[in-house]
Amino acid sequence: MAIVAVAGRKGGIGKSTIVGNLAAEFDAMGRTVVALDADPQHSLLAWARQGDGLLARCVREVSGRDTLRSQARKAEKETDIVLIDTPPGMPEVAYQAALAADLMLLPCGPSPLDLFALKEALALSLRARAERRSKKPRIRLVPSKVLLTTNLGRSLESSLKTMGKKVLPHIGQRVVVAEAVAGGLTVAEYAPNSPARDEFRELARAVDRILRR
Ligand SMILES: Nc1ncnc2c1ncn2[C@@H]1O[C@H](COP(=O)(O)OP(=O)(O)OP(=O)(O)O)[C@@H](O)[C@H]1O
Ligand SMILES: [Mg+2]
Repeated sequence: MAIVAVAGRKGGIGKSTIVGNLAAEFDAMGRTVVALDADPQHSLLAWARQGDGLLARCVREVSGRDTLRSQARKAEKETDIVLIDTPPGMPEVAYQAALAADLMLLPCGPSPLDLFALKEALALSLRARAERRSKKPRIRLVPSKVLLTTNLGRSLESSLKTMGKKVLPHIGQRVVVAEAVAGGLTVAEYAPNSPARDEFRELARAVDRILRR
C-alpha cells in the first residue's frame, strides 16, 4: 500500500529507532509491515535479533543485486506498509529510498548541527521528487530525541517550522526507548503504557493520515 523511508545524513538521530517503533505501531493498528534494513551497519537487524518480538518477524535485510528501489516495490505488493531504514552519510542509498518512497520522514535532533544535516536530507528528497516529476515523496520532519526540559529541545519544533516543511509529532529522549532495544523489543512491546509509547503511537497516526490522503 505505501512505502515510508526514514533518512538523514547525521548518525545517531533516531532513524532506526523510529523505523522499528513505527513498525510496531502499524502492527498494533492491524496493518502488515515489512521493515527493510538498507543500512550496512544493520542496526535494525541487530535490534531484531536481540529478541523474539515483532521485529524478528518483520525486519528484512536489503541485499543482492536488486536495487533498494525494486526490493521496496516488491515488498509493497505483499504488505500494507513498507518502512525503509537508511544509513547516515550514504546519500546514494537515501536517494534510492526517496525514489521509491511515498513519504520521507526526516528526523532531526535538537543540536544546531542536526539542523544543518537536515537541510541536506531535505535537498536530496526534493531532488528525487524532481526526478520523479511527482508530488512524491511527500516530506515531513520529525523532532527526534527531544529533551523537553531544555531550551534547545523546546525550541526545536519552531526551528524546524522555518524549513518550510510540515513537522510531525515529536519523539522525546526517554530511557525506555533504549531499554526496549536491549531486549530486542519495540516500545509497544516493552512499555505499552509509557509516555514514549504514546509518542510513537501519535507519530504513527500522523503518518497514517498522510498515507490515506
Ligand atoms: N527517543 C529516544 N530516546 C532515547 N534514546 C534514543 C531515542 N532514539 C534513539 N535513541 C538511542 O540513540 C541511539 C541512536 O539511535 P538510532 O540508532 O535509532 O539512530 P540512527 O539515526 O539510526 O543512527 P545511525 O545513523 O547510526 O543509523 C541508540 O542508542 C538509540 O537507542
Ligand atoms: Mg540507524
